[in-house]
Amino acid sequence: MGLFTLVESDLAAVDEVLTATLTAENPLVRQVAEYLLATSGKRLRPTLVLLASRFGRHPEAQAVRVVAAAVEMIHLATLVHDDIIDEATVRRGQAAVRQRFGNPVAVLAGDYLFARAFQLLSDTGRPDIVALAADIVFVMCQGEIAQNLSLFRETDAEEYRRRIADKTAHFLAQSCALGARAAEAPEAVEAGLARYGHHLGMAFQVVDDVLDWRADPGRLGKPTGGDIAGGVYTLPVLSALSRPEWASALRAQLQRKPVPIEEVRQVLEASGALDEALAYARREAGQAVEALASVPAGPAREALVALARFVVERDR
Ligand code: IPE
Ligand code: IPE
Ligand code: MG
Ligand code: MG
Repeated sequence: MGLFTLVESDLAAVDEVLTATLTAENPLVRQVAEYLLATSGKRLRPTLVLLASRFGRHPEAQAVRVVAAAVEMIHLATLVHDDIIDEATVRRGQAAVRQRFGNPVAVLAGDYLFARAFQLLSDTGRPDIVALAADIVFVMCQGEIAQNLSLFRETDAEEYRRRIADKTAHFLAQSCALGARAAEAPEAVEAGLARYGHHLGMAFQVVDDVLDWRADPGRLGKPTGGDIAGGVYTLPVLSALSRPEWASALRAQLQRKPVPIEEVRQVLEASGALDEALAYARREAGQAVEALASVPAGPAREALVALARFVVERDR
């Protein structure tokens, strides 16, 4: 992401592992992989693996790079599948894989990426690492299923928080734990880093949900307004619905087919619900930084603090 010079060269090595692993495959997979790797996202999860590894005795271990590449592969797989679920057309500034290659290829490519990531992980010979990574997919599926079951429904903020903890924050927490584990950091440090990752992830998803209302789609690399169109009631909508002075007008808008996205956006701005959601994200980012009290001070910890700031200030 350019922001973290501390791990920039390691990230380049991770990209090499990704390219080498995925482009040496059969022709269809190679075509999809080359397409996916042509644009790069923020590389947040491998960045967390690499920064967390700096707290271990062996940050240079090969297992660290393998884990960093594997989490990005798992992430790519979830994006490819998420875009099928959300019927999204654009991802990372280009047509989504499902849009470019069709749903059958997107399902298979996602499965393939999951399997390939776990092959890499099992080659480390570390069942504990494989188990931590399997848990990412397991918990994320629970969050996605919960979200699917609550489509077009008003849930309370607590249910929303559980959902995003499962679908997003747990992945960031496990990325930190995996980096610490692969580099053999002390258990208490791994636990502190995982707590950091959890709160960072909560902030991250709330900001993603705010950006779905506020961002410039060109800069964001994906369309905006899609959450409410798809029936996903995110924190800004839920908090506006909890205000008596805005609830009935908003409820009427949400009942319309199609939902008048611009009008809803105006309500979310005027009611202060979007700002309130951002304030919540800031508090979560603050808790992430507090969790770092249990890890040793130094450049890696400073980078994690800066990352918490980036997550709430980002526009992409
Ligand atoms: C998108 O993740 C999915 C969410 C959890 C919101 P990112 O925003 O990290 O996606 P890339 O990797 O930068 O494209
Ligand atoms: C994250 O939520 C979904 C995943 C768990 C991959 P979103 O559905 O909001 O992610 P984007 O906005 O499509 O990237
Ligand atoms: Mg989506
Ligand atoms: Mg989103």
